[in-house]
This record gives sequence, structure tokens and C-alpha cells, in this order.
Amino acid sequence: MNDSATLDDAASERAAYVHIPFCHRRCPYCDFAVVDLAEEQASFDRYVAAIEAEVSMEPEWLPLHAVNFGGGTPSILSPEQLGRILRSLDDRFGLLPGAEISIEANPEDWTEQHAAALRQIGINRVSLGVQSFDPQVLAKLGRVHDPAAAVASVRNAQRAGFNVVNLDLIFGTPGESVQSWHETVVAALDLATNHLSAYALTVELGTALSRAVRDGAPAPNEDDLADKYEHLVAAVGDRLAHYEVSNWADPGRECRYNLTTWAQGEYLGFGLGAHSHRDGVRTRNVRRLDGYLQRVERDVPPQAGREAPGQWDRERERVYLGLRRRAGVVAGAAGAALLGSATGQRLVSAGVVEVVEDRLVVARPLLTDAVAREVLALSPPHSAGNALSLSPGEC
Ligand SMILES: C[S@@+](CC[C@H](N)C(=O)[O-])C[C@H]1O[C@@H](n2cnc3c(N)ncnc32)[C@H](O)[C@@H]1O
Ligand code: SF4
Repeated sequence: MNDSATLDDAASERAAYVHIPFCHRRCPYCDFAVVDLAEEQASFDRYVAAIEAEVSMEPEWLPLHAVNFGGGTPSILSPEQLGRILRSLDDRFGLLPGAEISIEANPEDWTEQHAAALRQIGINRVSLGVQSFDPQVLAKLGRVHDPAAAVASVRNAQRAGFNVVNLDLIFGTPGESVQSWHETVVAALDLATNHLSAYALTVELGTALSRAVRDGAPAPNEDDLADKYEHLVAAVGDRLAHYEVSNWADPGRECRYNLTTWAQGEYLGFGLGAHSHRDGVRTRNVRRLDGYLQRVERDVPPQAGREAPGQWDRERERVYLGLRRRAGVVAGAAGAALLGSATGQRLVSAGVVEVVEDRLVVARPLLTDAVAREVLALSPPHSAGNALSLSPGEC
């Protein structure tokens, strides 16, 4: 696949995201909506029942093309608990034949038996949080698994017959040498998975990493991140197709759920902190476990905020999201506004943005965020149709 038409088609697909927030302990760099089990007790069964209740509160919809269990650590739940959630989605909306059912997993939870049991309940894609094959880098990231556990988790997934096995990597951890990163990439490619995601380590506000950096610890270095990204692109070469800034896959094995979100398609989010995009309206759930449970158990929808973007905001968003894909995005009105601006012309003459037939393509993926910021700053060609209503609620 990987052709632009198929990427654009994902705009008409429907997906669901289910957030499973539990982690044995929070990693120092992570700012996702996480319940740290080292600090807070939680009943998995109570949370699963709340997700089922939230699913039954959602108005009916058409059948789903993709379901993504994200986290947190969804692989912490038992196959029986994950199966209950899948059944509730199937009963409420239907799952299309061949739907992508994906789960994020930590290598330390991913035994052969667990992998086989999750295949049995219909999960067909797994994303393993390997991060690095260097034990010193894993220790700096606060991860509990070692490289041998990462390799075993991949083999378990491959043996269990998952359609897609993805490895998540992080590059640019302070202290990680270029040689260490090179060896991680080689080890990942040697495992012959059919999907790879790699992210630059980001210092998120409010995390233990950001407090350490504030107190003088080294931060990820921009030049080092750029070198490592370029090294990665060259090392992957044509082993996997580069289809999004941070994602590579065999053709046809791209993540359908993510393709839907980048194509501005619609999805329902369940669980704490989950976001939804339905009928052009974006909503987000409360981020605290107690608030989420209390609301859902009283039959109150757990939304904390709602945005109904106007026409121009949606058009800018379409281009902003679509530019992440290596095949780019149909230029449309926002693309025309960018190309008509002095900044847009500079980006084209510097070779950062290319026009390929009717599409805008970022030719230098490292600069995608900078181009996206320019798109978000574009003024509407006419002043009408740009109302934004925002009604934040309790969080
Ligand atoms: C939120 S985690 C959830 C899956 C699983 N718990 C894990 O850690 O692999 C999903 C991915 O986000 C990425 N990630 C999380 N925080 C990050 C950060 N601050 N910088 C870069 N990548 C990050 C990691 O690669 C991780 O695999
Ligand atoms: S990176 Fe993954 S394992 Fe670590 S705290 Fe975040 S969600 Fe949990």
C-alpha cells in the first residue's frame, strides 16, 4: 500500500481508542494519563466495568475498522478483561471483518501464553515498547525490562501469529552514543518485524525527567537527535517503507488506527484521558481515575472538554495532520494559503516543502513540526466560518 489514495481513504474509516492507564511504575519521561500502581491501588475489574458502561452510553455508530488499546500498559489486563471490552465494542458498534485490533504491550508482560491468549480473543496487532537494546539506556529511561526480554517478547508475538508486530524505539536519551543507537537499530531490523516506530526523547513538563533537567541533568541535544534520526532513516533504507515521520512498515501493514487520525477521520475514545472525534466535534475525557470512575458509575459521560472547530480550523487541522505522512496531503485551501504566504514560498525555495501534483509534501521530515506550526498560524482567506466553541469541564 503506502500510496497516497489509500492513506487518504483512511479519512472515511471509523476507529476506537481504549485507554488502559495502569503501569507498574511511571517512567521518568512519561506524561501520559497513567495510574502508577507503585503509588495508587486500583481495581482492574472496576475499570473494565466502567469502560463497558462508557461504551454503552455512547450513541450508536457504524461498525469499526480499527480498535487500539493504548496506555499506560494495556498488556497488564488479562485476556478475559480485554475480551470483555472488545465484546462491548462489538455489541454496541460492530467490528468489521478483518478489523485491526491493536494493543500496546511492555516486553516484561508479554509471555508466550499471554500472546497466544490475546490472539485467541481477536487481537491481531501488537506494539512492543522496546525503546532500546542497550541496558544502560533502558536503565536511564527507568524501564524494568532488559534487551533479552525485548527479544523474547518479539519472538513470542511472531510465534503467536500477529499480523503486525511493531517495535517502539526512543532515541536521544542523554548518554546514548551514536554507536549505541546504531546497535539498537541493527538489533531491531535483525528481528525482522513488519513495523517500526521511533521517537525522539521529549522532555515533557511535569515529569521527573523535566525536574531533573531543571536541576542540571543533561537534556536531549537537538543536533544529536537530528543525527540519530538521519542515521535511522539511512539504516532502515528500503527494508520498510517510511510512511509517517516516526513510522515505517511493510506495505499494507501501516497502522490503520493512526492513519485514520492523521487523515482527520473519526474515532471514539474510551477510558480516562481518552479523546474522541465524532461528527466534527472533538472531546476529551477527565484524566484522573477517581473522577472518571465516579462519573461513569453515576451514568454521567466522563467528558472534561469539548471543541467544535469552525471550517477554517478544520481545514488547517486537515493539512497539519496530513503533512506528517510521507505522501503528504492534498493542498486544498490551507495548502494554497501556505504556498501564497512569504513563509510558504521560503519553505518551498529552501526545499523543505514540495508540491507534488495537488499535494503538499514535507521533503525534510525533521522539519515537519516547524511546517505544521506555520500551517496552524495561517489566517483564513475570508473571515467567516471560523467560530470555535470551547467548554472545558472538570478534570
Ligand atoms: C505511552 S507508551 C505506552 C506503551 C507502553 N507502556 C510503553 O511504554 O511502551 C507509548 C510509547 O510512547 C513513547 N513515549 C512516551 N513518552 C515519550 C517521551 N517523553 N518521548 C518520546 N517517546 C515517548 C514510547 O516510545 C512508548 O513506547
Ligand atoms: S512509558 Fe509506558 S510503561 Fe512507562 S509510564 Fe508511560 S505508559 Fe507506563
